[in-house]
Amino acid sequence: MAEPRVSTIDGKLAQEFAIPSHVEEVKDKMTDFAKRHAAEGRRVVVITSGGTKVPLESRTVRFLDNFSSGRRGASSAEYFIDAGYAVIFLHRHRSLYPYTRMLSNINMMDALQFSSAGAASNSGEVVVNQQVLPNITKVLKRYQEVKERRLLLPIEFSVLSEYLHLLRAAAQALSTIGSKAMFYLAAAVSDFYIPASEMPEHKIQSSNGPLQLRLNMVPKILSPLVKDWAPQAFVISFKLETDATILLEKAQRALDTYRHQAVVANVLDSRRGYVMVVTPETQAELILTEDDVKNDVEIEERIVSNLTSAHKKFIDQ
Ligand code: PMT
Repeated sequence: MAEPRVSTIDGKLAQEFAIPSHVEEVKDKMTDFAKRHAAEGRRVVVITSGGTKVPLESRTVRFLDNFSSGRRGASSAEYFIDAGYAVIFLHRHRSLYPYTRMLSNINMMDALQFSSAGAASNSGEVVVNQQVLPNITKVLKRYQEVKERRLLLPIEFSVLSEYLHLLRAAAQALSTIGSKAMFYLAAAVSDFYIPASEMPEHKIQSSNGPLQLRLNMVPKILSPLVKDWAPQAFVISFKLETDATILLEKAQRALDTYRHQAVVANVLDSRRGYVMVVTPETQAELILTEDDVKNDVEIEERIVSNLTSAHKKFIDQ
């Protein structure tokens, strides 16, 4: 018998992308988080961060990956918190994480040592060594304050299907707080996938010769997000290109198509020092100067400042 036709993205998601077993539990957590912070007068942002994985086999040995270190999302989370937001951080497992990203060049085993008393008595007392102590103390202070005030809710994904279902759950959770919600979609999301029904179960055998793949198009999730799941929210998508000459046009086309509030457009090689924030009415170029770089200014601080002002205007209107 023919398969029933899937007419909506919700139907397609349910049918072709495995539903994570914990999605309802996570949705409840996000709903509580959003309602609590909104009641305390805070705005809430969902940041997506890192790249999605697309498996080629259901008992996965091989997969395709989208490039993203997670730095944009992780550093933006810190600036949003500094600006008074509560943050749901929907990120790729083991990609860069707010605050700890600043310590990612420290090898934990080099940072620790036995205290002299501990070494002598063999009591096993471990302390942080003096070279990294100031740096760790500074980051730890900020991290613990955020933790105590419960301003950061981390949610992990690895594969595309988890990302899609968890983002939908986040949108539904935040629909309870209307225009106080912002979506900052910095994750690098795959445009291609193999539907569960067409995926081989076992490892693809190289003895069968060269591999030919046919990948389906992933539904653009921005469309139901803006129209159906969180229609009152302030939504920002990202546009990544490697050819700077088509960037602005692609950003404007995304705004025309999805009718959301802003696109942050960037080119792979220059993304740390230059982005364009494009709205239906404006284009703002954000650029770091050499002095900014020397003073450790990050472009995410400028992006977040631009977007939090725009979000405020959006709410006031
Ligand atoms: O993490 P870093 O190393 O710091 O790098 C940051 C970054 C370059 C990854 C980031 O700044 C960025 O540009 N992220 C978006 C990359 C991307 O996937 O662009 P895209 O053109 O493929 O997608 C455009 C938008 O459509 C995205 O906001 C995405 O969330 C959305 N999308 C994508 C696929 C899909 N099926 N549905 C979607 O809605």
